Amino acid sequence: MSVLSSKNILLGVTAGIAAYKTAHLVRLFIKAGANVKVVMTPASKEFVTPLTLSTLSKNPVVSTFYDKEDENEQWNSHVDLGLWADYMVVAPATANTLSKMANGVCDNLLLATYLSAKCNVYFAPAMDLDMYQHPTTKLSVDKLQSFGNVFIPPSSGELASGLVGEGRMEEPENIVSFIENDIIRGLPLFNKQVLITAGPTYEAIDPVRFIGNHSSGKMGFELAKSAANLGAKVYLITGPSNEKVNHSLIQRIDVVSAEEMYTEVHKLYSLVDIAILSAAVADYKPSVVSSIKIKKAENTMTIELEKTHDILASLGKIKIAQFLVGFALETNNEIENAMIKLKKKNLDLIVLNSLQDKGAGFQKETNKVTIIDKFEKISEFSLKSKAAVATDIFNEILNKIYA
Ligand code: CTP
Repeated sequence: MSVLSSKNILLGVTAGIAAYKTAHLVRLFIKAGANVKVVMTPASKEFVTPLTLSTLSKNPVVSTFYDKEDENEQWNSHVDLGLWADYMVVAPATANTLSKMANGVCDNLLLATYLSAKCNVYFAPAMDLDMYQHPTTKLSVDKLQSFGNVFIPPSSGELASGLVGEGRMEEPENIVSFIENDIIRGLPLFNKQVLITAGPTYEAIDPVRFIGNHSSGKMGFELAKSAANLGAKVYLITGPSNEKVNHSLIQRIDVVSAEEMYTEVHKLYSLVDIAILSAAVADYKPSVVSSIKIKKAENTMTIELEKTHDILASLGKIKIAQFLVGFALETNNEIENAMIKLKKKNLDLIVLNSLQDKGAGFQKETNKVTIIDKFEKISEFSLKSKAAVATDIFNEILNKIYA
């Protein structure tokens, strides 16, 4: 998953030969999970057809304030388009459009939309090398950057004129990764590393049987997605789970038993800034694991169990600067028990789930949590999706680490 997933991208296309590459650019934005709308300057339609871009973007393409030939004549609102966009990308940006953008000229729908947009604006120039070198173009680029617009530099190479030099619009793949990296750099957890445990653990009895629990891992996976969407590099250490994750910032590490989870967590703990242990780790495991399948014999059977490592408590003991978050699943005296765990395991936050709350707990899509910090401040949250709970948890963490 890309940071562009579910974001609204407004692509502004102007009249340069590189406009033919915008068909590919739209495809890449769509592939990254973004919603795409395209606004074109009238002249750019000579280089790439609105039909191509509307088919690829799955949205109507606009280039004028209204369409004279359309009997339903509808006003294309630049204000609505500008407000819809999370990001506006002007690519290719010709010398003419750059200069107009830099000087507040507003003689077409693309420029009016640019002036109305409140979002981040990226521009990828494309022109012949002498035009690109001209002081007035440099001035436009500098001016746009001084407005906070983000410059995607052109590359060097053969130009449509046959000349060789700087001025080629950056390749669509590079435009997309440039924007993704720029967004990630501006996110609150950029440069932070986060470790998350998720799912159940399975403790083997023999080659075919184990002791496990009903945890789906969903809460941990949602936490991992939230952390990655905030720009963090995430290590997701998960017990057996059917949950799937596909995000360039998430490294999934699969484990089976509590012992394996303990080992993987300790390999990474010294690297991370935040650790959130949401896994439902088995507290006990069979003292002896049979190497062959145990045969049915007596009417009763006893399996001796021994304690597993308490992973969370072990991290609390060696904590240096890590922000450590644990979960507590309780059925009675919830707040009191959670506070005891918070202190005993040396945590910064504990997230309490009560099995008494309907809609909360294992195998559910929703959760209802209470978050308690180390100063015993208690924040209660309503029943919501596990994705929304993950957002609440990270809001609390961000408030604490950036307080
Ligand atoms: N935890 C852990 N390692 C274990 C057991 C639990 O890291 N062997 C972590 C869980 O991931 C969770 C927290 O400890 O973040 C609390 O888990 P919970 O099962 O509620 O509590 P326990 O400490 O196991 O205590 P009890 O089962 O007695 O309530």
